[in-house]
Amino acid sequence: MSPSVSAPVVSVITPTYDEAENLPELVRRIHESLANVPLEIIVADDYSPDGTWAVAESLAADDETITVLRRFHDPGLSAAVLDGMSAARGSYLAVIDADLQHDPAALAPMLEMVRSGKADVAVGSRESEGGGYGEWSTHRRFASWVATAIAKVFLRVPTDDPMSGYFMLTRDAYESTAAQINPMGFKILLEFIGRNRDLRVGEVGYEFANRVHGRTKLNRSIIRSYMLAVAELRLGRQVDPVFLLYVMVGALGLVVNSTLFTLFEALGFPLINTGLNDALDPIYSSFVASVAVTTLLLFVVNNEFTFWEQRYTGWKMLPALVLFGLMTLVGTLVHVAVFSWLQETGFALDLLGADAARVLHNLIGATVALVVNWYLNTSFVWKRRLQRA
Ligand code: GDD
Ligand code: MN
Repeated sequence: MSPSVSAPVVSVITPTYDEAENLPELVRRIHESLANVPLEIIVADDYSPDGTWAVAESLAADDETITVLRRFHDPGLSAAVLDGMSAARGSYLAVIDADLQHDPAALAPMLEMVRSGKADVAVGSRESEGGGYGEWSTHRRFASWVATAIAKVFLRVPTDDPMSGYFMLTRDAYESTAAQINPMGFKILLEFIGRNRDLRVGEVGYEFANRVHGRTKLNRSIIRSYMLAVAELRLGRQVDPVFLLYVMVGALGLVVNSTLFTLFEALGFPLINTGLNDALDPIYSSFVASVAVTTLLLFVVNNEFTFWEQRYTGWKMLPALVLFGLMTLVGTLVHVAVFSWLQETGFALDLLGADAARVLHNLIGATVALVVNWYLNTSFVWKRRLQRA
């Protein structure tokens, strides 16, 4: 007997990309978990190359609880989940991965938790009692631990597993928060509990299973997306979060540069006399080498991390690197010019004394150079298109 379709109590939304082999088993186990509950299952597919949508449609032919959303635009996990949510009619909205790594058996206790009013959001948690990470490598385990710690410290989220993609929330919780959600956001759960502090959050432990079919779609830009999401949740949309990444990377460059310089000095890199220009000579080869290595490093990190969406690949990296080098040179000139000018005018000299004033002048110079470089780099090297607000 199939449950009534007209009035689903629970809407189970599952985002899919290349999950054709996993879908039939997923559907079977969702029905098994919520056997006596009127439910609908919404498959939000991004036009998967493996034809997941076709499998879903053939399942739907025999199972009227299944709805298939074939998405052609605006691809992405969060966007798919949000589409599924807006199509959902249930009083409780659940999100579950289609790859069976989220055990559908946990749906029943999650429903019990939100239905009884104990929580507005029930999080499927690997951190709670009965939960676990399965066979995760120490490396992945560590990455997850760091991400969780960041969310707890910076966002003060009231759950031990804010990275979970598995949860159920009440319609009220959904409707009162959905308008504020960033659809480009990284973690849809983090968006809900990060935007709406009034939501009461509960946890249901489950053991994260290994993938049997298909493979993960998480790529290496995931750490970056995560940092952007945390920055945006914390600071709102006034500050461009990519600028914050840029500042972080710049600070890293500063540390690397002074470390390398000290190292090269200690190694006894020679002074070089070109004999060309008195003002130029002697050249500290340790200085030149440390700047060169740092510039190269900054280019790579900015290309692969800060400006991921605009990154250069293959031979195109070469002219971009040259351009970046030029911009860095301009930035350095600005830095030196501002510093010298402040030294000459003796800004805050009486107040701070010569030593502290020099540090301040240097800091102001570096800050001005940083902002100038940001505009140069985003205008000429990694040209950014206007993003929607
Ligand atoms: N529609 C759509 N569009 N679905 C997608 C997309 C997309 O662009 N990318 C991934 N999915 C679907 C997958 O088909 C799967 O059902 C689910 O989203 C999760 O994707 P996976 O690729 O399996 O992610 P994961 O297993 O590596 O990551 C899981 O663990 C993370 C670490 O804790 C997810 O549960 C994450 O939510 C979780 O944070
Ligand atoms: Mn997965």
